[in-house]
Amino acid sequence: MSNILRRGRLSSSPDEDILNFTSSMSADKWIFEADILVDLAHTLMLKEQGIIRHDDCSKILCGLMHVKEGGIELLDHSYEDIHISLESRLIDIVGEETGGRMHSGRSRNDEVATCIRIRLRDELLSLMEELVGLRLALLNRASVHTETLMPGFTHLQHAQPTTFAHHLLAHSGAVARDTERVTDAFSRVNRSPLGAAAFASTGFDLDRQRTASLLGFSGLLENSMDAVSSRDFLIETASVLANVMVNLSRMAEELVLWSTPEFGFIELHDSYSSTSSIMPQKKNPDTAELIRGKAGTVMGSLMALLTICKALPLSYNRDLQEATPNMWRSVEATRSAVRIMTGIIGSMKVNTDAMADKATAGFTTATELADTMVRATGIPFRTAHQIVGVLARSSRVPTLKDVDDVSGRILGAGLSGRGLTEEMIMEALDPVSNIRRRKIIGGPSPDETSRAISSSLEELGKV
Ligand code: ARG
Repeated sequence: MSNILRRGRLSSSPDEDILNFTSSMSADKWIFEADILVDLAHTLMLKEQGIIRHDDCSKILCGLMHVKEGGIELLDHSYEDIHISLESRLIDIVGEETGGRMHSGRSRNDEVATCIRIRLRDELLSLMEELVGLRLALLNRASVHTETLMPGFTHLQHAQPTTFAHHLLAHSGAVARDTERVTDAFSRVNRSPLGAAAFASTGFDLDRQRTASLLGFSGLLENSMDAVSSRDFLIETASVLANVMVNLSRMAEELVLWSTPEFGFIELHDSYSSTSSIMPQKKNPDTAELIRGKAGTVMGSLMALLTICKALPLSYNRDLQEATPNMWRSVEATRSAVRIMTGIIGSMKVNTDAMADKATAGFTTATELADTMVRATGIPFRTAHQIVGVLARSSRVPTLKDVDDVSGRILGAGLSGRGLTEEMIMEALDPVSNIRRRKIIGGPSPDETSRAISSSLEELGKV
């Protein structure tokens, strides 16, 4: 059969270069199954509304199932998109007298917008599950490391002692918010544009609510011009994904750093590592590096979506076709990155001794020492900060005598005279008691991190 779209208004066909330029067939593989669903729902509704006859409806529905079984490979890829190619195949199967009725009251504009939403919905549901999986991996790891000391960093300088559980819980918190954002974006993706037709709806008496509910949408994108023109759901989703990837890239960066011999905190499982083609000794954290790299790809997709949609006049413009692949690229990269990160976290080796060894390096207990002075002697924190700052200039672990020397110079009197004891100093300098003291909500004390882990697991329905 000749091209069903190009036998009326147009008299010539595009050459291969033009066809490749205009075709969305390669990206449309993402929406093949969604398109079948849209066709089924639309056809059924057309029959229910008395727009097509019962027997035509049956033939079209059977024909569509046939097309589905044949798969996308059987479609004619010389058409400019999946919608017209699928319709043409249907017409080949059931004849134009019947198949030619399916597109009544519909345009590819509402069709494609509906298909994208259906596929994206599935992707987002899978992503939610994958994010929950990542969170569980973080929480499971955290649950055995509530006592594992490690240095916490600010400016990538040793700052205060913390625990590995506390650090993992920080990432788990970010993943929890990412999951919330996906859920939120889902609620706006899950609205039906179907029935908007080209943009001005249609004079056929379509039942938009019916197709929306057949397709599992929670509501309509009401205004028919908005329905076909808007791609803000793609921008919103891509931005949510960019956020996920930024968070993952921060984890990945830490994993890369921590697996250097300089840190030696962790070792990735062999299956998540690569080696060098020349340096036989190398074990490289390539999977973590690629997560870091893919964050760039996902951020680029967001920028592409924003730029393509910017200043586009309503309603449908073909530019919108160029937007869609960015969504698929970013959702694919994000979902795989989440899965790989989950595997890395679950399988990596944690070197608790190396972490604990570094927990007090760089005088990380200095804050607790200053706090102890405040609590024991009543001096203002700012004064204690100065005293401990001066003590920190020497690389020696301070004793009560050192404290008295410095406080004597600054205050004119030693702090031992105001109640500070050697035991208090020793306790302040002990990383374990440092951690135990930090027991307010969100702190690193083992009791508090255990509580946080339990409450997260409970939230996920895992206890
Ligand atoms: N392939 C097109 C897209 O992705 C489908 C809609 C085509 N509509 C049109 N008026 N040419 O946007």
